[in-house]
Amino acid sequence: MTLLIFLRRKLSLTGTKLGCAEGGCGACTVMVSRFNPHHNQIIHHAVNACLAPLCSLHHCAVTTVEGIGSVASKLHPVQERIAKAHGSQCGFCTPGIVMSMYALLRNSPQPSMQDMEEAFQGNLCRCTGYRPILEGYKTFAKEGGCCRSRRKGNGCCLTSAHEEEHVTSTHSGQQLFDPSEFMPLDPTQEIIFPPELISLGKQPPRSLRFIGERVLWIQPSSLNELLELKAVYPAAKLVVGNTEVGIEMKFKNLLYPVILAPAYIQELSSIQYTENGIEFGASVTLTMLGKKLHEEVNKLPNYRTEVFQAILEQLRWFAGQQIRNVAAIGGNIMTASPISDLNPVFMAAGCKLTLTSKEGKRALQMDDKFFSGYRKTALKPEEILLSIEIPYTKKYFSAFKQSTRKEDDIATITCGMNVVFQQGSNIVKDIKLSYGGIAPTTVLATATCNRLIGRRWGEELMEDACSSLAEEMTLSPSAPGGMVTYRRTLAISLFFKFYLTVQHKLAQMVKPTYVCLSHSHDVKPNYASAIELFHVDSPTSVQLYQAVPPGQSTDDMVGRPIMHLSALKQATGEAVYCDDIPQYENGLYLALVTSTKAHAYIKSIETDDAMAVPGVVTFVSAKDLPGSNKTGPAVCDETVTCVGHIVGAIVADTQAHAQTAAKAVKISYEEIQPVIITIQDAITNQSFYQPVRTIEKGDLAKGFHESDNILEGEIHIGGQDHFYLETNCTLAVPQGEDGEMELFVSTQSASKTQALVAKALGVPASHIVCRVKRMGGGFGGKESRSTILSTVVAVAAHKVKRPVRCMLDRDEDMLVSGGRHPFFGRYKVGFKKNGKVMALDVTYYSNVGNSMDLSLSLLSYSLKLIHSNILFIYFGFGGPQGMMVSESWISDVALCCGVPAEQVREINLYKQGEYTPFNQCLDQFTIDRCWKECVNISDFHQRKARVELYNKQHRWTKRGLSIVPTKFGISFTAIFLNQAGALVHLYTDGSVLLTHGGTEMGQGLHTKMIQVASKTLGIPTSKIHISETSTNTVPNTSPTAASASSDLNGMAVYNACQTLLQRLDPYKARNPKGSWEDWVKAAYFDRVNLSANGFYRTPDLGYDFETNSGHPFNYFSYGVAVSEVEIDCLTGSHKNLHTSIVMDVGKSLNPALDIGQVEGAFMQGVGLFTLEELRYSPQGYLYTRGPGMYKIPAFGDIPTELKVSLLRDAPNEKAIFSSKAVGEPPLFLAASVFYAIKDAITAARAESGLSGPFRLDSPATPERIRNACEDKFTKLCPPPEPGTYTPWDVRV
Ligand SMILES: Cc1cc2nc3c(=O)[nH]c(=O)nc-3n(C[C@H](O)[C@H](O)[C@H](O)COP(=O)(O)OP(=O)(O)OC[C@H]3O[C@@H](n4cnc5c(N)ncnc54)[C@H](O)[C@@H]3O)c2cc1C
Ligand code: FES
Ligand code: FES
Repeated sequence: MTLLIFLRRKLSLTGTKLGCAEGGCGACTVMVSRFNPHHNQIIHHAVNACLAPLCSLHHCAVTTVEGIGSVASKLHPVQERIAKAHGSQCGFCTPGIVMSMYALLRNSPQPSMQDMEEAFQGNLCRCTGYRPILEGYKTFAKEGGCCRSRRKGNGCCLTSAHEEEHVTSTHSGQQLFDPSEFMPLDPTQEIIFPPELISLGKQPPRSLRFIGERVLWIQPSSLNELLELKAVYPAAKLVVGNTEVGIEMKFKNLLYPVILAPAYIQELSSIQYTENGIEFGASVTLTMLGKKLHEEVNKLPNYRTEVFQAILEQLRWFAGQQIRNVAAIGGNIMTASPISDLNPVFMAAGCKLTLTSKEGKRALQMDDKFFSGYRKTALKPEEILLSIEIPYTKKYFSAFKQSTRKEDDIATITCGMNVVFQQGSNIVKDIKLSYGGIAPTTVLATATCNRLIGRRWGEELMEDACSSLAEEMTLSPSAPGGMVTYRRTLAISLFFKFYLTVQHKLAQMVKPTYVCLSHSHDVKPNYASAIELFHVDSPTSVQLYQAVPPGQSTDDMVGRPIMHLSALKQATGEAVYCDDIPQYENGLYLALVTSTKAHAYIKSIETDDAMAVPGVVTFVSAKDLPGSNKTGPAVCDETVTCVGHIVGAIVADTQAHAQTAAKAVKISYEEIQPVIITIQDAITNQSFYQPVRTIEKGDLAKGFHESDNILEGEIHIGGQDHFYLETNCTLAVPQGEDGEMELFVSTQSASKTQALVAKALGVPASHIVCRVKRMGGGFGGKESRSTILSTVVAVAAHKVKRPVRCMLDRDEDMLVSGGRHPFFGRYKVGFKKNGKVMALDVTYYSNVGNSMDLSLSLLSYSLKLIHSNILFIYFGFGGPQGMMVSESWISDVALCCGVPAEQVREINLYKQGEYTPFNQCLDQFTIDRCWKECVNISDFHQRKARVELYNKQHRWTKRGLSIVPTKFGISFTAIFLNQAGALVHLYTDGSVLLTHGGTEMGQGLHTKMIQVASKTLGIPTSKIHISETSTNTVPNTSPTAASASSDLNGMAVYNACQTLLQRLDPYKARNPKGSWEDWVKAAYFDRVNLSANGFYRTPDLGYDFETNSGHPFNYFSYGVAVSEVEIDCLTGSHKNLHTSIVMDVGKSLNPALDIGQVEGAFMQGVGLFTLEELRYSPQGYLYTRGPGMYKIPAFGDIPTELKVSLLRDAPNEKAIFSSKAVGEPPLFLAASVFYAIKDAITAARAESGLSGPFRLDSPATPERIRNACEDKFTKLCPPPEPGTYTPWDVRV
């Protein structure tokens, strides 16, 4: 059992969250403290509770988020600051981030910014965009302020930037929060480590045994006992950090019946100096390893510690801190992973390993014979690894790791490189180039190395080495992991970096006496940046918004940056999410049984083995549906149409039993053709959903005729997983009479959930209540997709007549729920020499997966829907993909004309009063204002000059700049959804209970609705409460989606409040000096109805595709962003250097929430356009099913400088209190990062003589960036001929 399950299920401490169960999101972070008797020291570490075996915590103290503070008693400063700095939106990641920060402060009460950045490497947040979290926590940093006072001598950049802005703008100088309100941190007040654990820790160690249902866990007390046990149980696994074994048991279905836990054996944890280096016991954690190596690097001369420095560089990018705190050096070696980050270093450095068994010790050199096969080593079964000796440098030494995301990602290629020269020369005496990610094991490039021995370190050697590596480091075109061309190119490019690094070091050593070395020239100045280590400065930010007008009543909270009203509870773990609802005594758990085939007929389902698993109650299948199975099968009965199609479910007493049994269900299939996975498959098979829609406007032929130039192009835009931190979750509670059922669901769509459950159960909707307190993120993923789980859980609960719950594991959620649609755009564009577009013919293909779901509505935003055998609605609803295609042809036009892209964009921008292709007139048009302000605040023109200068001076790193506008139509395109209801109760004590049709998923809707009610009723927000969204209070609600919820629900709330006000008016008139409470009481005693509902429908909506007329949207939201990036042309990595955003949100209801939405959406867009890649096998199996392989942006991905400005004086007459929708529109602004990358690649290609348009598909991952930066190294690795092999993955 993991610590997380123990906390949540046994102790009901639900503050600690489950986000992934694989150590990749940090939602489960707790602090583990232990006493080290050898150093007489208490050690505090942030740890992932989802991977920590409970058995490993003997004599440890565990501190959870509940333990450090609460709203009810007293907040801890760490909790207070994240909440008040607006660093918590949905709040699901918040307890984990709080605990990472808390653990850091326990070790270092005044951390540096770098400490903080490291502490958060293992935490993800999908909502906030990270900026506000860092902003709040910077207040603990010893550097003070936000820029460590680097910029202006005294004081911080934030203050000075604000001051500068004040000069040029009438924006508010107020900060979004006031740090002077914060409680001080008093380290003396922290909870103490339990003294009894110190006394117990001082006693001689005793061996321990835990006997579980399936596993025997033994913690031996001595090395001898461990070796005896290993002799008895040679197949037993040694577990230290469990970061590898835990994953194998949870996700790879492996079972290790005997586990030996050697963490406390002194010999395995010791660190000793030897003649040649330092010997580390195999159980030394990576954090300890790093600490020791740091000490040595600071102490010893540089040349002796090059290996240590290389290891430290690898550790910087190794997992997150929670993992490094527990994972051991021995675990990394013995896992023998081909993409281990440390093994290539150890191999290139020739580290010595000491192995031991009952029979005695032996030493082995770490070379390519040590790894005997995929995840196999030269150890005998009864042997264990005792220690590893890491030598002082035999110069020169470097290590490199390249991965999709820099922080906490597994390597694409990782390597260690070592060269030794003949005395006093630059003639190679010995060289070792060791690679991970090229073969099933870590390998040495032996042939290349042999060719280089005896040669002089120079250009010729480098060219020869690269050609040799291209021949030696080959990969099958079908190699697991894919990215074959990229990986091969990387192997060479990284060697080139090593070559330059050594060249530079040699040049530093040249002295007149070293005659031979005088051949060594330093690297050319324009090559110097190629050898710099990847480093991103600490981020700084500015937020600008319009303050409320002077004289606005202090009770009127509209327009003020008030905190999300649940933020404090979220920061303390007291906020209740669906799976935090206490267990029912007779409650059961459900696990889904899903299809492993993309398109097949189910021949049989065999459940005997599953039913034999302890605790299993039943298997639920289509036969158990009392009602209809027609709304997209709740559980499939005959044919599966995607991998992950729900075939049935197991119900058991615990989640573990249910999941074990679900895996034991055997399904036999008869596969059906065709299997359509990619857009190209669908085009070939003409597999299109109907209708295929066309919009025509103007005279296309005339436009092409009048053009100076015509070009054609294509772009593919990959899909995206929602990656809400809280996965889909449902608790269904049968009420025992009349088929009534109460559902607690994490859904954006309570009414749809109610309707589909009623249909599946064959009861009227009035018998089903769906309740939603809050969600841990939704982003469109819980708009309709949540019903596929809630319906199954309801059917199961109906069958067993007991409460049933299911919170999907991350891998299940990613498999069954679908995501953003991939798009393929093909265009032909005609334009004038100056870039003015005259004609455009564009076809959009969207991969909508195996079911239509909401895809037809999505089509209205962006136009062919393809049917495939994979699953795919998301935040943005097709808008971003549609706009991305437009920006692609704009970029091509600019490159073709040789005109700056910003000029082409500007001359093609809409103007006030113009009509869209769907014939809606653009009034209240603000994009020109946003554009001007964004050019201004980003210092665009000077920035561009700097970028151009930089690019002239640097060959292997390039910068790029881009400005991109967005226009997003607001309204549901299904007209009937543009309605909302609200219900407001006044109680006799004056308190107000507000309910409306929208759900809270972090966007702050409830907070905004309370602000609206407070302003309308004229009472403080503290008197108003929202408890939940439920179908028995406000019926027939529209999903909380399309960014329209504040507009719709806000008006409904306003209308309900107005009704109540009118009823109270006589009592106010009678007693004008009375209080709110007096008026409410007087009305009550006068028998006035103190409950009112409100309703709103957006007027004047309706669009007809056939006649291309009407109004699809109520209004448009606008924004503009400028981004600057730097790319490493040799590796494809990029840094987001600067982003300025100007967003029109009308008259903001709450600037803090709106800026939070802008930044959060922008960062999701950064993920969409630069990082996140859904990878499928050619058979439609989704490989990317968790944070390990699917990389959403992390703390390190935010722009180093981020300015966000809400357009001032832009009231919107079409929504509540002149505000505008904000959720989705800013997402597309991240395309500015994509096109800045493309700009930088253009500069890189120019170095190779390439110019003109080129295709860059989205996302711009390091792989795509590197492959597009064509040079002499890419030429050595031509891509395999398409059609001659079966690739490992396909682009869907
Ligand atoms: C979220 C996450 C991120 C990760 N990121 C990285 C990364 O960036 N780079 C990377 O290289 N790895 C990464 N890993 C893999 C893993 O963390 C490392 O391999 C880690 O060093 C394993 O150590 P452990 O103590 O947790 O191993 P455990 O899981 O405890 O054990 C791993 C294996 O080593 C064996 N073993 C342990 N000690 C001994 C011994 N003394 N003698 C014999 N056998 C022994 C065990 O039997 C088992 O087979 C990541 C893992 C996770 C979950
Ligand atoms: S739940 Fe533990 S790291 Fe994600
Ligand atoms: S607030 Fe971080 S995931 Fe929602």
